[in-house]
Amino acid sequence: FKVDWDAADAEKGGYDYFMHKEIHEQPKALRDTMTSRISAENEDIVLDKIKLGKDELKNINKVYIVACGTAYHAGLIGKYVIEKYARIPVEADIASEFRYRNPIVDENTLLIVVSQSGETADTLAAMRLVRESKGRVMAITNVIGSTISREADDVMYTWAGPEIAVASTKAYTTQLTCMYMIGLHLGLLKETITKDFYNRIRTALLRSPEDIEFVLKQEEKIREFAYNNFKVEDMFFLGRGLDNYVAMEGSLKMKEISYIHSEAYPAGELKHGTIALVEEGTIIIALCTQEEVFEKMMSNIKEVKARGAYILAFAQEKNKAIEKEADQVFYIKDTEDDLASIGTVVYLQLLAYYLSVARGCDVDKPRNLAKSVTVE
Ligand code: G6P
Repeated sequence: FKVDWDAADAEKGGYDYFMHKEIHEQPKALRDTMTSRISAENEDIVLDKIKLGKDELKNINKVYIVACGTAYHAGLIGKYVIEKYARIPVEADIASEFRYRNPIVDENTLLIVVSQSGETADTLAAMRLVRESKGRVMAITNVIGSTISREADDVMYTWAGPEIAVASTKAYTTQLTCMYMIGLHLGLLKETITKDFYNRIRTALLRSPEDIEFVLKQEEKIREFAYNNFKVEDMFFLGRGLDNYVAMEGSLKMKEISYIHSEAYPAGELKHGTIALVEEGTIIIALCTQEEVFEKMMSNIKEVKARGAYILAFAQEKNKAIEKEADQVFYIKDTEDDLASIGTVVYLQLLAYYLSVARGCDVDKPRNLAKSVTVE
């Protein structure tokens, strides 16, 4: 009698790679992260382990969001959302930069650290530095009992479940979910958002697992694109506003697991550098989910198209105008612009995943990378 599977295969639950499984677990991970915190029935937002209340918040005049890798990209979206909803200046920084630049921190500073593992050395050091200067620390982490969760003043867990693949997927989207909830929470406490606005974003947030399910249904088309283009050497990701931050995450995923050289650029900066690299056949991933800058993105697309680029665009369903300029379009379901990041990034995860598979890479364990970096 011979058993021809091993324990690791069994845990993959029929998927070839953990990353693929984890991409598909995102609707559930998001639902688990929201359950008990926001719901359709209850108008309130309940952030159980966050003790930061109205009084403490009154004195907070500066927020830093500090993290490494993918968690840092969640931090950038957090910056956007918290500034917009709570009207407090927020700086997002990379932990290894923050800790060595003598940041201005005092008892009126709030530090939000983001870490899937809760053990990343630089993130932990940044947090200790802020605590020594009497700042308050809130942690968003996926691991109960991790060092970061133990040392923070407030903890918000992402209920993503174990993430095995080195490249982060469901931890990232649940970190985003937490950022939106924190932004709404602080906005309500500070009365910088209206109840109506809160309800709109809350409703859209509660719908985000379905938005991901919609994207997952388009998987075959992404796979097809990847198999037709796996020999590509460079790829450029463009976006404006929130889309720029999502582009950064998409580009990181691409590098990490498919080893394709890629760069993310705020589309408005294109003419200050990256456009010099665009030539016949260059693949441009254009994220166009933000209404306010949609027309600007259309102009950027025209600019790169005129130089021969092939444009893969991502937009909300209502923005069909994109088909005039892009070579291929992938739609996310119409949603609040602030929440378009969630559906869009799932497309980019799938794109990196299928390019990695098509190129024969070790998807779950990319060369030179580790899941958790506990030394400097
Ligand atoms: C490593 C992992 C990344 C992760 C980063 C931060 O680079 O490969 O996937 O985003 O560390 O890890 P953390 O556990 O702090 O979120």
